[in-house]
Amino acid sequence: MKQELAGKRVAVIGAGGGIGRAICETLQANGADVIGLDLRGLDRLPEGVVGVECNLADVEQLGAVVAALYEEDARPISLVNSAGVVEENIGVEDMTIADFDRVMGVNFRGLFFACQAFGRELLARGGGGIVNIASMSGNYMVNYPQKQSVYNSSKAAVTAFTKSLAVEWAGRGVRVNALSPGYVGTPLLEQKTEMHAQWKENILLERFATPEEVAEAVLFLLSDRSTYFVGAELLMDGGITLR
Ligand SMILES: NC(=O)c1ccc[n+]([C@@H]2O[C@H](COP(=O)([O-])OP(=O)(O)OC[C@H]3O[C@@H](n4cnc5c(N)ncnc54)[C@H](O)[C@@H]3O)[C@@H](O)[C@H]2O)c1
Repeated sequence: MKQELAGKRVAVIGAGGGIGRAICETLQANGADVIGLDLRGLDRLPEGVVGVECNLADVEQLGAVVAALYEEDARPISLVNSAGVVEENIGVEDMTIADFDRVMGVNFRGLFFACQAFGRELLARGGGGIVNIASMSGNYMVNYPQKQSVYNSSKAAVTAFTKSLAVEWAGRGVRVNALSPGYVGTPLLEQKTEMHAQWKENILLERFATPEEVAEAVLFLLSDRSTYFVGAELLMDGGITLR
């Protein structure tokens, strides 16, 4: 296998999740030194991936984690933002401020300040890459029948922010892109198994993506094969948004 990321350090936030774990595995298999950040699931990280407990909603804690990582090793750390939460089928008329803040606090606020904390160091240490996991639900479609207006809005915010950030940092050695998957078979979908058949009806490939397929696209966006991608949103949805 090609070692496309040999010698590079990458932090994956949300590493304990279905997609995050696959990203850790793929990046590590391609030579990266991977640090996995999450609230939970760190005991299931692939062997060799360094797990660090971290709550993305706590910006101060995140800053302390970044500082500690650089105390151990001064090499720049590229970043993959894969942490995410979704409200459980709540209509706008019933949305509480707490539910709104929980989803936005991780998916957008947390991601924003993670880009800031890791990005400041990348700017100072010679650059690197940032990949933000957004979703087809941000700019391409509204999921049905489940109601998830805050999640969808948070993902549109992620892609808008990714473009803004790419413009600010492209000339300074930090390449920022977003990846928007369609449905991926992970724990995030498990609470809605009764809807799976309905979702699949509209997927041209008639199946969900695998976390490994998502990880391949992340590898591409971090590698030197994608050097002309700046502020892009890569959509990988099995064709569902064409219907
Ligand atoms: N599964 C899908 O169908 C799908 C589709 C499109 C986009 N996405 C996005 O992909 C990303 C990964 O999703 P997944 O399917 O692996 O979900 P998942 O639930 O398996 O993993 C998400 C991870 O984020 C972590 N997390 C949540 N809040 C956190 C916090 N405050 N601090 C640190 N970590 C936190 C969780 O502990 C979990 O390990 C998410 O951003 C999600 O929105 C998923």
